[in-house]
Amino acid sequence: MRRLAVFASGNGSNFQAIADAIKEGNLEADICLVVCDREDAYVMERARMENIPVFSFSAKQYENKAGYEREILDELHIHGVEFIILAGYMRLIGSTLLGEYSHRIVNIHPSLLPCFPGKDAIGQAFKAEVKETGVTIHYVDEGMDTGPIIAQEAVPILNGDTKDILQKRIQELEHELYPKILHQLCQEKQHT
Ligand code: GRF
Repeated sequence: MRRLAVFASGNGSNFQAIADAIKEGNLEADICLVVCDREDAYVMERARMENIPVFSFSAKQYENKAGYEREILDELHIHGVEFIILAGYMRLIGSTLLGEYSHRIVNIHPSLLPCFPGKDAIGQAFKAEVKETGVTIHYVDEGMDTGPIIAQEAVPILNGDTKDILQKRIQELEHELYPKILHQLCQEKQHT
């Protein structure tokens, strides 16, 4: 059973989808830690309800990224984490974590990368008036949403859509796709 840590900064609906898939037997893995950089994030509450330990930190209490990433790394070791799953974690991963977990950090991004990287990808696509956008799951490197792509699926932007409607459609796909792809990755890595 692969040991995952989920990193999140906000609502945590993707965390929930992953936790639910595990409970339903659709993803053979354990979430053994949630890492969160915001005390008021709802994902903390979700983690408590799932009885999953949380490591929370406030970046401004550290001198630099290496400072808090070293503490995160300690926690990952304590919990025996093998894969880092980013699910709405609003910080770039630095060399401290990449050094040890390179090719074992996965992110989900709400666009068809390389289009619309960075913040508010759904708003960016909506404003650009493109006919479709989508969801990308990729390995994380030092760039902003630039690592090797694992899976992508398109979502149409329909006449009459608002940004909220589009966001809902994208999130529904995320909740289905992320656990499915993570399951495949965990199976593959089982043999390596
Ligand atoms: C998702 O849309 C994900 O693609 C992006 O951040 C959002 C997180 O949503 N990276 P949630 O916190 O999982 O609800």
